[in-house]
Amino acid sequence: MNGSTPLAAGGFGATQRRDAWWIEPAITAFVLGGFVVYANWAAFRNRDFSFGPYLSPLYSPNLEHLLGPGVWPSGLPSWFPRSPAFLIMWAPAGFRLTCYYYRKAYYRSFTAHPPACGVSEGNRGYRGETAFPLVLQNLHRYLLYAVLLLLGFQWYDVALGFRFEDGFGVGVGSLVIAGTMALLTGYTLSCHSLRHLAGGKVDCFSCVRFGEARRRLFLGLSRMNEHHMLWAWVSLFSVIFADLYVLLCAKGIWTDLRLL
Ligand code: FES
Repeated sequence: MNGSTPLAAGGFGATQRRDAWWIEPAITAFVLGGFVVYANWAAFRNRDFSFGPYLSPLYSPNLEHLLGPGVWPSGLPSWFPRSPAFLIMWAPAGFRLTCYYYRKAYYRSFTAHPPACGVSEGNRGYRGETAFPLVLQNLHRYLLYAVLLLLGFQWYDVALGFRFEDGFGVGVGSLVIAGTMALLTGYTLSCHSLRHLAGGKVDCFSCVRFGEARRRLFLGLSRMNEHHMLWAWVSLFSVIFADLYVLLCAKGIWTDLRLL
């Protein structure tokens, strides 16, 4: 194929690349798919999500605990598990599903649309994200607001993780949950939409109210945004680890060490 021939003319997978371009999307599909399976299993599990002062991040905040059983909509089928995880997980799940980085990852790894840079997807139509269902990706900024709200409650649960029956203390679990929340906060603060919100529409910071503060905020968020992919992955793994930590402690398989 020479430079003037469209890749699509060579059919699906046509490429001049000589490297194993398919490895990255394959690993991404395996890991992301594994997380989706794990998160759903953990939500349906509906038990062993707390241990002592610890609450699994997949169940934080526990709205059923905060608002009572009336929080469940009436008319919900009896077979549907009343797992508190379902009350909140739509927000972080939707946030990740519509995340600019994850879009790239799962468009490539799950739909091969396109499979990779410089690799043909054949003659499949492309309308960008302007038609259903991809137009729903525009909900990302609203999911950001929901996740920012959740973060406040989740940090409150982190603080509760240091409150033992005999008063303030630090257990390994306190640090695991606090570390997970720090990574989730880093992922949220490195969001492209948040960066845009801070300074994306401003051509001249000194011409707007709070310009200097916004400039500093924009630069800080931009620095975090440079590593958004890293935040996305480490926060994902940390959530699984924290949930497993609480689960295994609750089952008596792991012993939570009290450090202070
Ligand atoms: Fe990834 Fe917003 S772009 S969380």
